[in-house]
Amino acid sequence: MSAIGASLARIEGIEKVTGAADYAYETTAEQETLYGWVVQSSIVTGRILDIGVDAVLALPGVVEVVTWRNAPHLEDTGDGELNVLQHAIISYRGQPVAVVIAETLETAREAANVLEVSYSAGESDVLMSPDHLRLYAPDKVNPAFETDSVIGEVDVALADAVTSIDHSYSTPALFNNPMEPHATTAEWQGGRLELVDSTQGSSVTAEQIGALFGIPGEAVHVRAEHVGGGFGSKGSPRPNVPLAAIAAKITGRRVKLAYTRQMMSSLAGYRTPTVSRMRLGADADGRLTAISHEAFSQTSTLFEFAEQTAEATRHMYAAPNRRTTHRLVALDVPTPRWMRAPGECPGMYALESAMDELAAAAGIDPIELRRRNEPERDPELDVPYSSRDLIGCMERGAELFGWAERDPRPAAHIDGRWAIGTGMAASTYPAMAQPSGAVVTAMPDGRYRLGINATDIGTGSRTVMRQIAADALDVEPEAIDIRIADSNLPKASVAGGSSGTASWGWAVTKACRELRISLQTGMTIPPDGITVTATTDAEIAAQEELSRHAFGAQFVEVRVDLDSGEVVVPRMVGVFAAGRIMNPRLARSQFIGAMTMGLGMALHEVGELDTVLGDYANHDFATYHIPACADVKDIRVEWLDEEDTHLSPMGGKGIGEIGIVGAAAAVANAVAHATGIRVRDLPIQPDKLI
Ligand code: MOS
Repeated sequence: MSAIGASLARIEGIEKVTGAADYAYETTAEQETLYGWVVQSSIVTGRILDIGVDAVLALPGVVEVVTWRNAPHLEDTGDGELNVLQHAIISYRGQPVAVVIAETLETAREAANVLEVSYSAGESDVLMSPDHLRLYAPDKVNPAFETDSVIGEVDVALADAVTSIDHSYSTPALFNNPMEPHATTAEWQGGRLELVDSTQGSSVTAEQIGALFGIPGEAVHVRAEHVGGGFGSKGSPRPNVPLAAIAAKITGRRVKLAYTRQMMSSLAGYRTPTVSRMRLGADADGRLTAISHEAFSQTSTLFEFAEQTAEATRHMYAAPNRRTTHRLVALDVPTPRWMRAPGECPGMYALESAMDELAAAAGIDPIELRRRNEPERDPELDVPYSSRDLIGCMERGAELFGWAERDPRPAAHIDGRWAIGTGMAASTYPAMAQPSGAVVTAMPDGRYRLGINATDIGTGSRTVMRQIAADALDVEPEAIDIRIADSNLPKASVAGGSSGTASWGWAVTKACRELRISLQTGMTIPPDGITVTATTDAEIAAQEELSRHAFGAQFVEVRVDLDSGEVVVPRMVGVFAAGRIMNPRLARSQFIGAMTMGLGMALHEVGELDTVLGDYANHDFATYHIPACADVKDIRVEWLDEEDTHLSPMGGKGIGEIGIVGAAAAVANAVAHATGIRVRDLPIQPDKLI
């Protein structure tokens, strides 16, 4: 029997729910450890004039205050956000201006609160808009896509279209809120740096932090045994890591440093606000003749992050004339970065809302409109899809949801004080694999030891790696002892881009298969075992050029309170075609979690920019709303059995992000159906409906 496909429970599940699992802030002997607390800038731009260090150093228990005056030098690695405490210039509100280090957490926090910082404040510019005078075209968009694409004559085709729409859709700044805020424990041992870090990539952390401190990546030892979520915010080191390492260096002691929930919104990366101007044209049969997606987003002055908002539009639907553009403005704001499905998530909200509006304008069922625009090959890359079953997802979803009974007329179904509506949208996310390495050892007692510097951010990747190894070795999963998230283990890619399982599983499979071959040559196993290490650089470089994407379809019912404008979502259905599913129990949680996050994006989540303060004003869960249990009623998830031989040896496409893509559009489409009101600026708060 195959271990892949079994609904195994997480290996570390009991440790986690009983509190025995150690996270980055919990891993060291308390009495030997100092506590760092970040002090953040209260101005947006300008410079620090003075910091009242002496008064704070006089407090009992305060050990040191690190500022730009005494911080060790960091190398310029091209990421100004990480070059913390190097000068007196302030580039965004919330930027670290000092770290207070004390014998206890309470002392550090109190000392940070009373630390006086005086500033000279400058002018600032914090508001992104498609009319901004400093918009520019970045060289590439995240991670390395072309900025613009043009095929055919879009404007001519739009002018000639039988049906067309031209609307702009916006998404606000959205904040990553993993359960565990960023945290680092740092200690220098001679020229070596020991880090326990809450990260999605213990390999990338070692390299980047090494570069910052001018030491080789091998001199930085990173462990991340348990990580309480990330969503992209821990996909590369954020200021907490160099701040902790600086604090450890200057005191010569072990230092712990964590963000509070309130610090997350300025120091962890967030989803940029986006505006997408969508123009679609169709012929009399509802076949798209033109697709235009112009995307606008922001970055900071310290680091260029260019959200690839229009990227998914390049691969979704057939149309002979097409154009996508990305324009960016560098503002005096914290740096936006990855947040679950960067690009696809806001971009598909726009495209799938626009498709729904086009369907209404053309009088065609939304599923039928998408069916008529199904491409045979990737319309921009002009290569085949490795597999594409959007139609299968829409058909199965329609069946599960009961789409056939839908009355397409808007605002036609009123039940007491409720307007009821249904909507659907498509989902997509690229299927990627990155080079990784793994080591496996056959021990004389019949057990196997597997090691890979992958991280398990709560998704269950440790468990899935063991399942994959069990199949490759043809043994029971219980015969394998697995170690992950330690940079002494073979280098592995980040837990991001929904690519962890494919990337790491490929290396694990290769190492295990090679070990089996060496075992079959009849060697006796020595006491320290027989070890094989494998990397997948060659295999991944040799991948055929294909368009590899997972697809899905989401269906939503909404009830809109006609008096208050409140939107309630009694049910969501998601059907996905994402290749082979490794572990149904874990996969279901991933899909439901992402659809829930999409529900939050649709209805609740918004970073409220205070243009006078120069910052997002809602820095906590009291003011930044995410779905609570009462908001999540009935989310049903299924997937299709999809065979795709062009993926990794395990045959999966990745499932971490696709569930959030399309969810917000499906809600918005259902609200438009319920009420006749099209909300084009998320979130759909009550005031937009009454
Ligand atoms: Mo995800 S935003 O690639 O961690």
